[in-house]
This record gives sequence, C-alpha cells and structure tokens, in this order.
Amino acid sequence: MTHTAAIIGGGVIGGGWAARFLLNGWNVSLFDPDPQATRKINELLTNARYALPMLYDTALPNEGTLTHVATIAEAVSGSEWIQESVPERLELKHKVFAEIESHAPKDTVIGSSTSGFKPSQLNEGMKTPNRLMVTHPFNPAQYTFLCTIILD
Ligand SMILES: NC(=O)c1ccc[n+]([C@@H]2O[C@H](COP(=O)([O-])OP(=O)(O)OC[C@H]3O[C@@H](n4cnc5c(N)ncnc54)[C@H](O)[C@@H]3O)[C@@H](O)[C@H]2O)c1
Repeated sequence: MTHTAAIIGGGVIGGGWAARFLLNGWNVSLFDPDPQATRKINELLTNARYALPMLYDTALPNEGTLTHVATIAEAVSGSEWIQESVPERLELKHKVFAEIESHAPKDTVIGSSTSGFKPSQLNEGMKTPNRLMVTHPFNPAQYTFLCTIILD
C-alpha cells in the first residue's frame, strides 16, 4: 500500500522532506503559495534522485508521486502524515495548524519543522493539541537521517 504525506511549505526544509518521502516510495501532496515552489522542488529533487541512493546499502523503492495542490485542504485530505515547514513565525504557524485541523483526518499526526518553538506554544488553540509534534530535521533534510523530536 502506498502511503501519503502532506507537505505544507516547500522551501529549503519542506522541499527536503518532500524528496525524502518521495524517494522512499510515499506519495506527496504539497502546498506552497510561492509561484517558484514547483521549480525549486524540481531542482532539489533532481539532485536528490542522484545523491540519496548513494547513502543506502539497498535499492530504494519506486518513487512516489508528487502532486502540487492549491490549498491546504487539498494537501491534507487523505494524508497519513502532515509535515509543516512554513516560515518561523508563530502567528503564521497557528493559522496553518487551524486550517490543517479543519480539513485533515482526525488521527493524522502533524509534525512541525520549527527550529525554536515548543509544542505547547505551537498547539495553543488547537482542538486536538496532542497530535502535534515537533519533528525538527537537520539540514539538508533530504540527506540527513536525523530528526529531533521535542516534547514539553
Ligand atoms: N533552514 C534550516 O536550516 C532549517 C533547519 C531545520 C528546521 N527549519 C525550520 O523549518 C521551517 C521552514 O524553514 P525553511 O528554511 O524551509 O524556510 P523557507 O523560507 O526556505 O521555506 C518556507 C516556505 O514556506 C512557504 N510558505 C509561506 N507561507 C506559507 C503558507 N501559509 N502555507 C504554506 N507554505 C507557506 C514559502 O513560500 C516557502 O517556500 C522553519 O520553521 C524553520 O525554523 C529550518
């Protein structure tokens, strides 16, 4: 069965998460309002397709499908993992989480790539705060195997 991840924010880090999921066989649904986002991700993916397999002893699975969507609602519907990687501004992250919560399946985990906010700051005002985790990746996220999980 193919899994699906939603990537919200496809810049340096979100693009890295997208490549990581895709090259490990997951389908990815990506929302980023930047008109250049598709070009940037495609460049990052081209490099990752070449370099990531060299970090593994075994062959990677068939690549998943990347779909660029126009809204958060489309990105998160049917996803099993949601990774938020929007700019490091608390009010923006709150707005994004509120929209995710309105449209995502109730049991989908939401990971935040935040560098500095605690889960208790990020999940303020959420209806289901326990499903939000800080999953802060090391950069470049497409190549590093490390991700810090922060609970408070
Ligand atoms: N750059 C790093 O080394 C690094 C490392 C680990 C974690 N982080 C964290 O990752 C997060 C993203 O950082 P980055 O370096 O990728 O930033 P970035 O500026 O490269 O990417 C942010 C992306 O979010 C998009 N965006 C803006 N508003 C949005 C919205 N409402 N919905 C969806 N997308 C939106 C932007 O268009 C941009 O493409 C931050 O929280 C940052 O602290 C960064």
